[in-house]
Amino acid sequence: MKKIKKIGVMTSGGDSPGMNAAIRSVVRTCAYYKIECFGIYRGYQGMIEDDFISLDARSVKGIINRGGTFLKSARSKEFMTPEGRKKAYDNLIKNDIDGLVLIGGDGTFTGGVVFNKEYNFPIIGIPGTIDNDIFGTSHTLGYDTALNTTVEAIDKIRDTASSHNRLFFIEVMGRDAGFIALNAGIGAGAEEILIPEEDIGLDRLLDSLERSRKSGKSSSIVVVAEGDKTGKNVFELAEYVEENLPEYDVRVSVLGHMQRGGSPSCFDRVLASRLGVKAVELLLDNKSNLMVGLLDNKVAATDLEEAITGGHEINKELLRVAEIMST
Ligand code: F6P
Repeated sequence: MKKIKKIGVMTSGGDSPGMNAAIRSVVRTCAYYKIECFGIYRGYQGMIEDDFISLDARSVKGIINRGGTFLKSARSKEFMTPEGRKKAYDNLIKNDIDGLVLIGGDGTFTGGVVFNKEYNFPIIGIPGTIDNDIFGTSHTLGYDTALNTTVEAIDKIRDTASSHNRLFFIEVMGRDAGFIALNAGIGAGAEEILIPEEDIGLDRLLDSLERSRKSGKSSSIVVVAEGDKTGKNVFELAEYVEENLPEYDVRVSVLGHMQRGGSPSCFDRVLASRLGVKAVELLLDNKSNLMVGLLDNKVAATDLEEAITGGHEINKELLRVAEIMST
């Protein structure tokens, strides 16, 4: 088998805290094993446009603590076409790159799987998304930081909610996954948590809010994941509750992209460092089509296609705990 001599690393899809730390780890592991490393700007789009940069151990100094990704990120429509992928392949060959580390979420991995099928190009994935919706890892890069950011923001909203005896609906990120909502909701003491994986229904929401008001609660927080399945967006939900429970003074807060920013937590920095080392070592071992993740606090490799399709289940115990805690 051909020995890998130059690895390309890129970040793609929605950015997440810890991506810089993961790039640093990939670059430094390459330096450790004395192989070359190229950074690819703007994910697949940069690959198509030949936007590469040579990186050595010193090029990644001072970034372990920085949010975002200095290689930038994008969701490339062109890479979804065979013509786009052909351009990307030609540029990799032109730059003598013979292995890729892809840092991103399911969209990034889906592109990688298709590309590998077409060109048999060695690829390893590192799960980088705040959503935590990837199979084969207990934590994706950036999830821990995003959780802490979200809890901190909800804590602040709680201060004003309680001063004014108000009910707040707080929308958090998670188009298809409720990990942030459920964990930040429990961590911040939310009254109710609405997630895409479990539709509690509007009646239960009203019952629960009515019950808590009668039990003497003067203010409440309802955490709503972006993709919750009640069929109403957060503003419609707030309106619905205000109409049905006029005793409540209701406000809405959408936390949005602030959850994707900020300096990564120590957990995410360590995770990024561990996964970067393993990703490079797998490529050097002539392995491909795998994702590196964390299972039982050990770095483990999962088939890349399975990582996308396997589904990362919500822990039902957390739903129960959330319900009991809102008593
Ligand atoms: O996938 C991460 C994520 O932050 C989701 O939680 C969110 O729904 C989406 O990205 C937002 O994407 P964009 O930044 O493209 O609006």
